[in-house]
Amino acid sequence: MEVIRDRGVFAAACRAARAGGSSVGLVPTMGALHEGHRSLLDRARETDGFVAMTLFVNRLQFGDAADLRSYPGKLDDDLAVAESAGCDVVFAPSEREMYPNGDPEVTIDPGPLGDRLEGAARPGHFRGVLTVVAKLFDLAGPCRAYFGEKDAQQLELVRRMVRDLDVPAEVVACPTVRAPDGLALASRNARLSPAERAAAPVVFRALSAGVFVIGAGERDAGLVRAQIEEVLAAEPLAGTDYVALVDDATWEEARTVPEVARLLVAARIGDVRLVDGVCVRPSSAAGERAE
Ligand code: PAJ
Repeated sequence: MEVIRDRGVFAAACRAARAGGSSVGLVPTMGALHEGHRSLLDRARETDGFVAMTLFVNRLQFGDAADLRSYPGKLDDDLAVAESAGCDVVFAPSEREMYPNGDPEVTIDPGPLGDRLEGAARPGHFRGVLTVVAKLFDLAGPCRAYFGEKDAQQLELVRRMVRDLDVPAEVVACPTVRAPDGLALASRNARLSPAERAAAPVVFRALSAGVFVIGAGERDAGLVRAQIEEVLAAEPLAGTDYVALVDDATWEEARTVPEVARLLVAARIGDVRLVDGVCVRPSSAAGERAE
């Protein structure tokens, strides 16, 4: 496995792979790798001849300097995970390599969905995400790009960017990897105290309660949201940022449970923000999750 620091060298490696007849699988990450990231790498390895993981903690998408500083990072561990997953290259540029002129003046506008939900809680976040993802797509060239359903709004915005700007990438959505108690794996989980970690599965329990009432026939989106809020409110260590039920096709807030619904929760436990969601098709067997 080759570790590349230089943009030109990374672009050339991807070009050479395509010239040799391989498809390029791109897995963008910010490091602090866990089984969730690993599932994306495995999926790419199964599908593509050449697997490129990128590892860059993108300052542009962090509004809060303290959040950026506390972002966990262990390069050696991450490279070991990438190697064991069979990556061909890891592109791990420095800040200066990615943004040689400082903060970019021209950035990607995520459109109206970029200001809602996670975007409302973290102004500028999705502009930062899409700007770095656009740069990575540009360097990698035509590719398949793997993103987690865990960050469903990010995934949707990347899809919209690819669609609206004719980016030559095929976006592949990968299901959320969870701990046995339901907590979605996330790098920030490492910052939970033992008591907070014990409380954290409430997020998935709340989502599951929403899925359950839909399975039982509830079609009033307000009542489904209320059910989710009630479960969250019963956990003293958890504060609710938002509970949403959107139509998966449009991402508009729904009044009636749509054909494909997405339930979304953001909660705070201590100073850790947990973001999770599930997709539900009410018409299929009793509220089956369709992640
Ligand atoms: P990061 O948080 O490192 O996540 C990298 C990828 O792993 C994302 O596509 C994310 O959705 C996916 N992922 C994280 N936890 C997961 C889980 N439990 N199950 C499945 N997939 C999971 O997301 C980012 O980095 C950045 O915003 C990035 C896209 C790299 C741009 O900087």
